[in-house]
Amino acid sequence: MTSEPKNLVDQSREGEVLVLTIQNPPVNAFGVGVPEGLHAGLDVAEADDTIRAVVIIGGGRTFVAGADIRTFDLPREQSPDLRGTVDRLDQFSKPVVAAIHGTALGGGLELALACTYRVAVAGAQLGLPEVKLGVLPGAGGTQRLPRVVGVQKALEMMVSGNPIRAEEADQISLIDELIDGDLLTGAVAFARAHVDVTPLPRVSEKAAEGGSPELFVAARAGLGKTHKGQLSPGLIVDLAEMATQVPFAEGYAAEGQLFMRAKDSVQSRGLRHIFFAEREAGKIPGLDKNTPQTEIKSAGIIGAGTMGGGIAMNFLNVGIPVTIVETTQEALDRGLGVVRKNYENTAKKGRMTQGDVEKRMGLLTPTLKMEDLKDADIIIEAVFENMDVKKEIFGKLDAIAKPGAILASNTSTLDVNEIASATKRPESVIGLHFFSPANVMRLLEIVRAEKTSDSVLATGMALAKRIKKIGVVVGVCDGFVGNRMVHRYGDEARKMVEEGARPQDADAAMHKLGLPMGPFEMSDMAGLDVGYLIRQHQAKVAGQPKPDGWLDRIVEAGRKGQKTQAGIYDYPDGRKPVPAASTDELLSTFRSEKGLTSREVGQDEATKRLTYSLVNEGAQILDEGIAQRASDIDVIYVYGYGFPAYRGGPMKYADEQGLKSVVADLEQYGQTPAPLLKRLADDGKTFADWDREKARG
Ligand code: CAA
Repeated sequence: MTSEPKNLVDQSREGEVLVLTIQNPPVNAFGVGVPEGLHAGLDVAEADDTIRAVVIIGGGRTFVAGADIRTFDLPREQSPDLRGTVDRLDQFSKPVVAAIHGTALGGGLELALACTYRVAVAGAQLGLPEVKLGVLPGAGGTQRLPRVVGVQKALEMMVSGNPIRAEEADQISLIDELIDGDLLTGAVAFARAHVDVTPLPRVSEKAAEGGSPELFVAARAGLGKTHKGQLSPGLIVDLAEMATQVPFAEGYAAEGQLFMRAKDSVQSRGLRHIFFAEREAGKIPGLDKNTPQTEIKSAGIIGAGTMGGGIAMNFLNVGIPVTIVETTQEALDRGLGVVRKNYENTAKKGRMTQGDVEKRMGLLTPTLKMEDLKDADIIIEAVFENMDVKKEIFGKLDAIAKPGAILASNTSTLDVNEIASATKRPESVIGLHFFSPANVMRLLEIVRAEKTSDSVLATGMALAKRIKKIGVVVGVCDGFVGNRMVHRYGDEARKMVEEGARPQDADAAMHKLGLPMGPFEMSDMAGLDVGYLIRQHQAKVAGQPKPDGWLDRIVEAGRKGQKTQAGIYDYPDGRKPVPAASTDELLSTFRSEKGLTSREVGQDEATKRLTYSLVNEGAQILDEGIAQRASDIDVIYVYGYGFPAYRGGPMKYADEQGLKSVVADLEQYGQTPAPLLKRLADDGKTFADWDREKARG
């Protein structure tokens, strides 16, 4: 028995116009069933003389938001044939109008570019974001877009991957008409008005204007800054240049080959992994989708320091009024001054008007009285890391906050269960761990404590989305996910230096992997005194002798990091780290005093030891249920710690290396593999397998 081919395209008639409506919710991705449906519709249009034009439109909330990324790893014969569809549209004998609302992205815009005309409603977004997935427009986009909007604009769109709005698309003739009112009615009217046009305009027959050798030199030079170490952006520039030099067919053929190369690259696998991981992170197993949420109409923040001020900005940016509390007028004035200055700097760069600055500042109410938080729907405590202080604050909040208000702590390490125990409503308490600078970094660790209610958790997740953060749910433990892993990584880095590596070598190993900062640059930036005080305190509590590591000695020499212009590195210009002779001297004294023999630590060893220390701790965290998925850990490292997205995060990186070899390397370098990691390696599995099996239950 042969089954009918899947058809996801509805056909309807509007007089002499055939309307093809793509129905593949939620985003009308160009998946199996879409090309079949479009071809069936075009067959009808071809065969019927009474049909004089075709309109292609998306059902639901959007036009086609791209090729179906889930089909990228299918064998070619099972993949939806986007190229075959655009080829047919390009040569079609009757006018075809793409009617765009929502988003026309990637393969969706390429489909539209192959149509005779494009119309869109205001606010629709058009773009070629393939670069963000480590690929390139593979259905003619690199050849057609430069022919429509000129080489410079096409390069800008394809290299950044950022979409433009229909209003701008109209100005640069990417669309032929901006439709006012109902899209389908407007598109059908447009089609009717063009049924007699001969010959039909075809993008593939136009020339790509505005290319010059200097433009391509500049474009390639720019990639070093924006896309260092990445494959697909360079290929995009090469193809845009071809669009100016060779006939369409030749450029199109080259695009097909380079698309496959990019798609099969480890970088594209990493970026696609992160695309789905980011969306997966928003899902909490066992949490009912209809869990009631608290409506957040106002926020209170305790502490107007760097974190408190940064957190406040997130709320102000989306129009949520904030009351911010400090203990002294001076601290309050300083905090508000920093928030204002940040906004004014943005305004100076032209990304905000002075009016926007005043509007945001107008939503911020400073106060010295905690009682002023009595009406806030959510209160976030952002004072320094001290359990006694936090418990005292939460005790007071319990008496002040209105019933149902969410009480959140921005702690980065402390036990949220203990903090919650200071209140009589632990179900209302949650951890919201923002990353510094809190107005910039996209990650938000959402700490679910033992008694946090489902409603508070669901509200936390929804709030993250509203303030444009990527929320990832984590459990309670020292440092949660991100900082717990980074502590292990820091320990390994320190140990490597004891063995003979120079701090700059350890940092260089991580730069080579694509991280903007290595472990020691990061420590200098965060302030070495923080870790120093924690180590001293822990030793005291445990009744151990005063710690005397090389890093402790650096702090004791008065070098606390970037803020004192001297730490592990020197900072002659205040920002850029320069290897310090004093650190070399201190290290050689330290090693000889401790009887350590120095050996050379190669870059390969350094990269493996540092990265795998993250992976190993990550595996332990997974086993303990502190993170829900390995892919959540990847999201945390990409958005909170600058792990390159094109490597997919540390857990995906380990999967790509093969867990057997990760275990072997850990053992070789004296680290004990976590039981879960060892188990997966022995079974020939990956962290992705673990995630899949866990999702199946
Ligand atoms: N393929 C497969 N699934 C997709 C998809 C795509 N292109 N785009 C979105 N989805 C899925 C998401 O994974 C998500 O699935 P779940 O609900 O199961 O998690 C669902 O659609 C909804 O997506 P979002 O949660 O992201 O919804 P949103 O409203 O916040 O954003 C969007 C919508 C702007 C379209 C966003 O999803 C997006 O940016 N998608 C990717 C667009 C893209 O990169 N297109 C280019 C693809 S590559 C290509 O086209 C190659 C080529 O040239 C041949």
